[in-house]
Amino acid sequence: MDRDIVVVSNRGPVSFVRERDGSFTPKRGAGGLVSSLAPLIEGTGTEWIAAAVSDDDRAAAARGMVDAAGFRLLTLPLDVDDYRMAYDVVSNATLWFLHHGLYDLPRRPRFDRHWREAWEGYRRVNEAFADAVVDTAPRDAVVLVQDYHLALVGAHLRDRRPDLRAVHFTHTPFCGPNSIRVLPEYAAEELLTGMAAYDACGFHSTRWARAFTACCNEVLGRAPRTYVSPIAPDADDLRRVAESDAAAAAGRDLDARVGDRRMILRVDRIELSKNLLRGFLAFDDLLREHPEWRERVVFFAFVYPSRVDLAEYQSYRQEVEGLVGRINAEWGTARWTPILLDTDDDFPRSVAALARYDVLLVNPVKDGLNLVAKEGPLLNRNDGVLLLSREAGAWEELHDVAVGLNPFDVSATADQLHDALSMDQDERHRHAAALRSKAGARAPRDWLDDQLRAATAETPG
Ligand code: G6P
Repeated sequence: MDRDIVVVSNRGPVSFVRERDGSFTPKRGAGGLVSSLAPLIEGTGTEWIAAAVSDDDRAAAARGMVDAAGFRLLTLPLDVDDYRMAYDVVSNATLWFLHHGLYDLPRRPRFDRHWREAWEGYRRVNEAFADAVVDTAPRDAVVLVQDYHLALVGAHLRDRRPDLRAVHFTHTPFCGPNSIRVLPEYAAEELLTGMAAYDACGFHSTRWARAFTACCNEVLGRAPRTYVSPIAPDADDLRRVAESDAAAAAGRDLDARVGDRRMILRVDRIELSKNLLRGFLAFDDLLREHPEWRERVVFFAFVYPSRVDLAEYQSYRQEVEGLVGRINAEWGTARWTPILLDTDDDFPRSVAALARYDVLLVNPVKDGLNLVAKEGPLLNRNDGVLLLSREAGAWEELHDVAVGLNPFDVSATADQLHDALSMDQDERHRHAAALRSKAGARAPRDWLDDQLRAATAETPG
């Protein structure tokens, strides 16, 4: 593959922190895309275009394209109001909710005049990204546009830079044809027309690709080429973190806190789609129905804040904290706190915990993939059991080996927690070995190769 690559995403591989002397230090971002993709393209001169998200990013963006952390990085200082409308209102409060089925339809969404303006902001932000690609992409480059924030970029590239090949990859689920009808007609049409302008559209699972195709057929009467390419964690990078001093220290602390008890674990953003509430309710049910587990199991929830400007996320966090408080008050004893909820974003500690769980609970109401479901089995050294929502994209790859759960069925999840905690050692060992091999079947390189193949394939599929 001798074409240059340009990666385009809302959140870039680094964010900048302004130092006292006025210089900017790049800080590597933690998301799944960055951790999988960065090691492959670092140092290759690959261009990465992203939005200036924080104030320090905006100040750093004034320098134009810079070499940072092994990339040629172009951080865009977008109009602040446009960006807020595009990121908060359209991307996160609308498209994210739509694709994950999070709307409480009798109340939300409400597409009022303000939303119409927000859609215009979304359109302008997409145009600004497209302008940056048009101005800077090397001739004949392959442009890899990421996620729902940037659905409309491809339409501009087609007219203005026909030498480029551009694919769009959606890291979320995609809603079905009934749900797409919730959007105002102009928005549904523009969104899908925008995506159909790419050379191909990629998804983590066949289910989301099919839903997208069905939406296109319903609204546009035609559908573009799609491809399915689940992303994979970088196993070497995970191993390095697992062997770091920070993870070792966190591991010692965890061992002391768990003692001789069993450990249920979840690692997530504080995010509505992750289904934290039903996970804790299932644990509550377990302690009620199976008193034998009281004082013998702890539930570590390493969950860190996300999208804190959105009211829905603020009230969700309060609900989560309230529920955990209620469950701990009901079942806790002087020697034992049933749920240990910690909201620090501490990756080495999460890695140390993933190495140690007896049961990993991954129960999203819907999830594009869920990288933790693969990271856990790769890191775990305790023959741990994976309880995985059938609504996660990762289910497609892991369904033969993970224990599948219905994320809405609280009492069934409680029974499954009990069964997982009661599983005998031989069965756990077989389960963990099978999971490890499935979770490690693909590498980040496979994902990147799939993007490049999809971009340059000649025949529409
Ligand atoms: C999901 C999306 C990503 C996003 C990430 C974190 O994984 O698919 O595009 O970057 O969530 O969300 P945030 O809004 O903080 O970037």
